[in-house]
Amino acid sequence: MQSGAKALPALEGRRILLGITGSIAAYKAAVLCRLLKTAGAEVRVVMTPLAKQFITPLTMATLSKNPILVEFFDPENGAWNSHVSLGEWADCFLIAPATANTLAKMRTGVADNLLLTTYLSARCPVVAAPAMDLDMYAHPATQENLRALAARGVKIVEPGEGELASGLTGKGRMAEPEEIAACLNALFAPETASPLRGRRFVVTAGATIEPIDPVRFLSNHSTGKMGYAIAGELARRGAETVLVSGRTALPTPAGVERRDVLSADEMFDAAVEAFAHADGAVMCAAVADYTPAEVATTKIKKNDGELTLRLRRTRDIAACLGQQKGSRLLVGFALETDREEENAAAKLAKKNLDFVVLNSLRDPGAGFRGDTNKVTFIDRRGREALPLLSKAEVAARIVDKIESLLK
Ligand code: C5P
Repeated sequence: MQSGAKALPALEGRRILLGITGSIAAYKAAVLCRLLKTAGAEVRVVMTPLAKQFITPLTMATLSKNPILVEFFDPENGAWNSHVSLGEWADCFLIAPATANTLAKMRTGVADNLLLTTYLSARCPVVAAPAMDLDMYAHPATQENLRALAARGVKIVEPGEGELASGLTGKGRMAEPEEIAACLNALFAPETASPLRGRRFVVTAGATIEPIDPVRFLSNHSTGKMGYAIAGELARRGAETVLVSGRTALPTPAGVERRDVLSADEMFDAAVEAFAHADGAVMCAAVADYTPAEVATTKIKKNDGELTLRLRRTRDIAACLGQQKGSRLLVGFALETDREEENAAAKLAKKNLDFVVLNSLRDPGAGFRGDTNKVTFIDRRGREALPLLSKAEVAARIVDKIESLLK
């Protein structure tokens, strides 16, 4: 145990909320809890009602040195177990083991036990270690749930292959406690070491809205998912992050300062203003290139003939920041449908970017709306093509590259 503590230095003093769900792998949560405690972490445990059938609250209370939370309130004295304060207390919510049932509920927002209400209100990083039978794990429903959760930023500790409780052999065994603890350690370790710590970054994200009249507008299909994932990742690694956001339906990532804008002109002003105090920027927004030259003050009435809209060019935010940047870091995106790499390389030069994240609408799983993306980094030295990844993982790789350029 002593060597385990030395191997996990970033866990010292961390507050870990350990969630246990009803899987046979719950017995490993006892070992996991001891590892975390030995490494100097504070541990509180929340269990689903079914988890109590697999490991007793007494065992977990003894190991964590804290009372176990299962119900919304204590039936003895009516004391309320606040899921909000649990989520606020934790530096990390680790759900191990995470059953297919709990993962599905996490994805859809079902909140029928204390563990799930805590998940929905937690703002800290969430890590889940799935444990289930091989067919349940391989089922498209579970795989979709895992992909969706990963895209939302939940860190999934992949299960291992081996003998399962069912007697079958395959993938679904919960990762070993040492691996899960090492993953938590890594989650906290880069924050202190990251060159992003104390630096300021601006991220633009989402679609702009260009008004035609008080009712209609021109826009595009961007959801903002990629930019929000990048802003969240920058903040998680310690950067002070300003997110200049077009209209999206997404929640603001933890630790990020969000400034909402509508039109390309508003986004230009907000981004230029924020960049004046920043060390770098990631231009992820899908900014309109053209906007109506005149905006009607009253709703345009239809008649039988055609209607012609006159459009004027908007200002290019990335190009403007590229002129001002000096030695600061500037990352752009290129969404292309043809001659992808040639166009991306041209943008790199024209907008004075440090690198371009290229995604092609021709690649399945890339581009708008989805939770995955397939990108290629283009810089002055060459290209690096990444495989199809969740947008959260793409964000992590982009921020890895930013970190390597800052070092
Ligand atoms: O030239 P294109 O619009 O394809 O370039 C895409 C890149 O430029 C993206 O990083 C996008 O956020 C940025 N851009 C911008 N302002 C504009 C148009 C694009 O910042 N008006």
